[in-house]
Amino acid sequence: MKKLSLKINRIEGEIIPPADKSITHRAIIIGALAKKGLRINRALISGDTLSTVDCFRKLGKEITIKGNDIYVAPGPLKEPIEILNCQNSGTTARLLAGLLSAQPFYSVIDGDSSLRQRPMKRVVEPLSMMGARIFGRQEGSFLPLSLKGGELQAIDYELPVASAQVKSAILLAGLFAEGQTTVREKIKSRDHLERMLKYFGQEIILEEKAVKICGKNEIEGGEVAVPGDISSAAFLITAAVLIPRSRLIVWQVNFNPTRIGFIKKLLQMGARLSVLNLKEEYNEEVADLEVKFSELKAVEINAEEVPALVDEIPLIALLATQAIGISRISGAEELRYKECDRLHALYLNLQKMGARVEEQDDGLIIEGPTKLKGAEVQSFNDHRIAMTMIIAALIAEGEMSLDSLDCIQISYPEFRQHLLTICH
Ligand code: S3P
Repeated sequence: MKKLSLKINRIEGEIIPPADKSITHRAIIIGALAKKGLRINRALISGDTLSTVDCFRKLGKEITIKGNDIYVAPGPLKEPIEILNCQNSGTTARLLAGLLSAQPFYSVIDGDSSLRQRPMKRVVEPLSMMGARIFGRQEGSFLPLSLKGGELQAIDYELPVASAQVKSAILLAGLFAEGQTTVREKIKSRDHLERMLKYFGQEIILEEKAVKICGKNEIEGGEVAVPGDISSAAFLITAAVLIPRSRLIVWQVNFNPTRIGFIKKLLQMGARLSVLNLKEEYNEEVADLEVKFSELKAVEINAEEVPALVDEIPLIALLATQAIGISRISGAEELRYKECDRLHALYLNLQKMGARVEEQDDGLIIEGPTKLKGAEVQSFNDHRIAMTMIIAALIAEGEMSLDSLDCIQISYPEFRQHLLTICH
């Protein structure tokens, strides 16, 4: 158990958040396919993105990392001798499954004990429909997956779960398939892959609830830069909203409409937050944010809204403990299949801290405001749960401890340093 002893008066200062994790993964993958290679400026260098780099090195790619820049050199993908270990990264495993379905060689995708429990059938099913041969435990439900890729046929597929990882896997396979692949979604999920493919000149049709891609076009490559990760910035934003007299500026954060559900909810809760300097870079919106301590009121989240804030629900739950009224999070059963069962983890931890919280099959009901008290809480080896608990500790009365901080390096290695910079 690690004691969380940081006690502070207020949050004050400016921060450039780490680069977006989803966009960095996709840039590495697109770089691996690019004829001229790809220079990725201001990338995220973290546990998850290094898993993607490691897999592509095993696939024969030469990748150089200098500071926060990644260079993916041109050259073909080759049959890997070793197992492709995606460690903790669901995005790496699912997107690789899509790409490797179309490569004329054999490969094996594996991960750590958490990733081995996460559902893979959702990608195996559509990729098999396209003609890929994929085997895995329990009829392809779980890692390790073994794949023999080859010629694929386009499909027209409606996603049964709102998942950008599944959509991206099918689109990557569709890049190599015969004909036009269509992915339909009932609720729009993050669209970074589509945007980057379009930026690099791919024939891709973007409709409100469907993406269509024609395969067999070459990607030239060149250069791209990655904006800040709103899901990482959200931890510091939450601290500023919750702690009296705080004021925080966040520079250069990705403001893609499919990712800003958290900001919209904060505004609905009454947060004093301004969006500044909205502009476009490399086909992604980027903005600066100013946020101040705010009195909050309860909020509701439904299934339609979940994809745009799926990774920020732990923070919404924490904010709800300090908001006046009853907050209801529903339609969020996907949280049970993340790096841990996040609904249950939040329920256990927040309840221990004295919050009035009820666990539902698909969400949480939280009545606020309650004064949180220090407790022995668990990370469940999940980076977002660990960081949420560290922010919770800032407003809790009494001693707080967390089993492990190691998992934070998955998405935000500089978290501690950034927090110390703005804590006064
Ligand atoms: C991600 C999509 C989301 C998100 C994950 C990253 C991506 O997962 O939770 O952290 O990069 O595509 P799902 O697509 O499974 O909802």
